[in-house]
Amino acid sequence: MGSMGKVLGVGLVVGCAVAMCVVAGTMVGKRVKSRRRWTKVVKVLEEFEEGCATPVEKLRQVVDAMAVEMHAGLASEGGSKLKMLLTFVQNLPNGSEKGVYYGLDLGGTNFRVLRVQLGGQRSAILEPGVERQPIPEHLMTSTSEVAKFELFDFIAASLQKFVEKEGNGSVALEGKLRELGFTFSFPMKQASVSSGILIKWTKGFSIHDTVGKDVSECLNQALERRGLDMRVAVLINDTVGTLALGHYHDEDTVAAVIIGTGTNACYLERSDDIIKCQGLLTTSGAMVVNMEWGNFWSSHLPRTSYDIELDSESPNPNDQGFEKMISGMYLGDIVRRVILKMSQESDVFGLSFSKLLTPFILRSPLIAAMHEDDSPDLREVARILGEILEIGDVPLKVRKLVVKVCDVVTRRAARLAAAGIVGILKKMGRDGSGSTASGKVKGGSHTKMRRTVVAIEGALYTSYTLFREYLNDAIADILGEDISSHVVLKVMEDGSGMGAAVLAAAYSSSGQDTL
Ligand code: BGC
Repeated sequence: MGSMGKVLGVGLVVGCAVAMCVVAGTMVGKRVKSRRRWTKVVKVLEEFEEGCATPVEKLRQVVDAMAVEMHAGLASEGGSKLKMLLTFVQNLPNGSEKGVYYGLDLGGTNFRVLRVQLGGQRSAILEPGVERQPIPEHLMTSTSEVAKFELFDFIAASLQKFVEKEGNGSVALEGKLRELGFTFSFPMKQASVSSGILIKWTKGFSIHDTVGKDVSECLNQALERRGLDMRVAVLINDTVGTLALGHYHDEDTVAAVIIGTGTNACYLERSDDIIKCQGLLTTSGAMVVNMEWGNFWSSHLPRTSYDIELDSESPNPNDQGFEKMISGMYLGDIVRRVILKMSQESDVFGLSFSKLLTPFILRSPLIAAMHEDDSPDLREVARILGEILEIGDVPLKVRKLVVKVCDVVTRRAARLAAAGIVGILKKMGRDGSGSTASGKVKGGSHTKMRRTVVAIEGALYTSYTLFREYLNDAIADILGEDISSHVVLKVMEDGSGMGAAVLAAAYSSSGQDTL
């Protein structure tokens, strides 16, 4: 090799070394950058987790706040964000009901029509024919002048189709209208068990010219327009239906909770404690109160910036605060907001994440599916991220992060709902804390806790195992194993609609108390 060759050779070696250094340097730089990005994402998660923390002491504060607000809502109209609405249901079914009754259930994702046949003696409910169908989107949010008629005509038409499918056996007796229990799961101001005025819409429903209208009247008119021989015998909230069915099967049932698209609870209150209408209530010593707990608020609730944004961008800001942290309508959107923040802070979800900007794109069944994905490579998480959010090739460690976000959101929701339930038990004196009013009954030489059954319905509890487990565990955490062993949460499948039909039976021949 000549001298020129040597120079070239040395130059090449030096050049290669420099290039390698540059490559190595770039790689190190990339690694440092990617570590930094990862740290940022983890920080988003940690901060969120911290904001959502629900240690048992905090839950106890929520329990106390719930009980205090219940008192306030019962003391005066507008005394609390908890409306504590009167339902005029003063007698719950006791199992002696007989006959054929119908139920209509409007207020969740699906609309349901059903028929029950009751044989007395707490018999099993025969022929519980149930038909479900989604409510057409345009009927839920219509602004047209005739929207009100469209919705109630749709309901009446579904009922008519249902009745026409039945055999002759169900034809109404000569001159007698068939009786219908109508579950309408929105806040209503009632003056009798069979009528009620819509106070406001929730859960994304918003139909022109319906607030302030009597819901039974609207349906009865639609039934008449179709020539159907039916009338609304009872108009109730879904929680009340669930309580009614629970009580039909088990007389220790004193409260009911729904955790589905929306969330709410009702319970049996002593008339004496319903201060806001004392003296006006007539017969039995108790009445079911629809709490509308979705609107509960307390400074003890663990609220994050994501909750605040969700609320301010919702059609009903400052409303339904508890519901927005708990129910199926909103859980997915909290998860979406956290993932969106992560993808804005770094590129762990790649650069194209526009679907994450779509509100409510993640429904709660998807959250449950990702959360409960037990495949080693989190295949379901990858599928949902790919198919729904159009984010492909997400590394396993990032998928794990998504599962963790679902876990934080769901755990907080379930534990807050548990605190709400214990709040009701406290108000009823069944949380084992007091002495006389503590739900203890004399049992021989020692006092023992009275059995308390809470009927429960809604897909978050019935179909989302981890949610259910978190809720049950939190009740035991708050009350302690001993006391919580006397509290039974009983699932009432189709309770809201079935309970309406059973209540229609209970009220069909008895007189109704009207203010
Ligand atoms: C409504 C309640 C209802 C609950 C569960 C809430 O949004 O305001 O009336 O009981 O959802 O369906």
